[in-house]
Amino acid sequence: MLFISIDEVKYMLAKIEAIRRTALEKVAAASSSEELESLRVKYLGKKGELTQVLRGMGALQPEERPRVGQKANQVREELEAALQEAKTALARREQAARLAAEKIDVTLPGRPFRRGYRHPLYQILNEIKDIFIGLGFDVAEGPEVESDYYNFEALNLPKMHPARDMQDSFYITSEVLLRTHTSPVQVRVMEARRPEIPVRIIAPGKVYRRDDDATHSPMFHQVEGLLIDERVTFGELKGTLMAFIKQMFGEKLQVRFRPSYFPFTEPSAEVDMSCGNCDGSGCRVCSYTGWLEILGCGMVHPRVLSMSGYDPEKVSGYAFGMGVERIAMLKYGIDDLRLFYENDLRFLRQF
Ligand code: PHE
Repeated sequence: MLFISIDEVKYMLAKIEAIRRTALEKVAAASSSEELESLRVKYLGKKGELTQVLRGMGALQPEERPRVGQKANQVREELEAALQEAKTALARREQAARLAAEKIDVTLPGRPFRRGYRHPLYQILNEIKDIFIGLGFDVAEGPEVESDYYNFEALNLPKMHPARDMQDSFYITSEVLLRTHTSPVQVRVMEARRPEIPVRIIAPGKVYRRDDDATHSPMFHQVEGLLIDERVTFGELKGTLMAFIKQMFGEKLQVRFRPSYFPFTEPSAEVDMSCGNCDGSGCRVCSYTGWLEILGCGMVHPRVLSMSGYDPEKVSGYAFGMGVERIAMLKYGIDDLRLFYENDLRFLRQF
């Protein structure tokens, strides 16, 4: 055991006091948070000066240790408090400096950014939906990638049926294709709801065909309609469609029902509207006929009803399918449907 004189204690106390004085001076003079942190490490860190002194206490007589220990702890606490205080003061000063440098004029008016809005086609689609919802129809949906069965077969268009020619499409396999119309949703809804009546739905969505000119696009939108109940008549179909057309276009355009053929309706009709582009005198939009076809419709074919699980002896129904682009063209007086897909803002901003 080493003999250590009383002087050794005095020496250690003096050393601690010296550390205290210089450390406090330096803390008071520090001008950044980084500087404060390095001072903390220098004096109080694992290898810091004060820590070293405390380690050296092992060499003192046991009865001498408390005096030195007490002093060292006092100084540690004092230093910690001084560091903390200086840190807060500095942070406040640094923030004040930042705010002074950052010249923000909160009274300046904001910079507004242009608000987005719906594509004109979807504005029209929403109008169509609103009108039919008002007439009591629900909105149904179906897949755009469809099976041959739903797109054709269940609609009374068997494999070699010539009417398939008018709806050539994009095939994924020989049994799977991009739907050519929204009519497969009729079948899906009937299968899901049979034998419940009434069925009263519209089905909006995208459809695909091998077509491309001023009034045809390879992708376009349709809204299908289907109503099944007891004793549904063609008169109701006509009344419903007329009510829709009046709400959509007002009274100014002329409407005609023209007998037509669809394998899934019997009898069938097409509805034309007087061409708004040329007021009926004939132009490119109406193929010089004065009329623009906007929808196909008819009474649901009994075979379609029975294939989907409804008894044609007990119920009847009507269906229609309308082209959304055609309706938008008429409503806005647009003479080329391809404009809807070119994303030219000069065009789109007009709606
Ligand atoms: N699916 C037909 C078409 O796209 C339109 C239609 C729907 C006709 C419902 C009659 C009944 O041409």
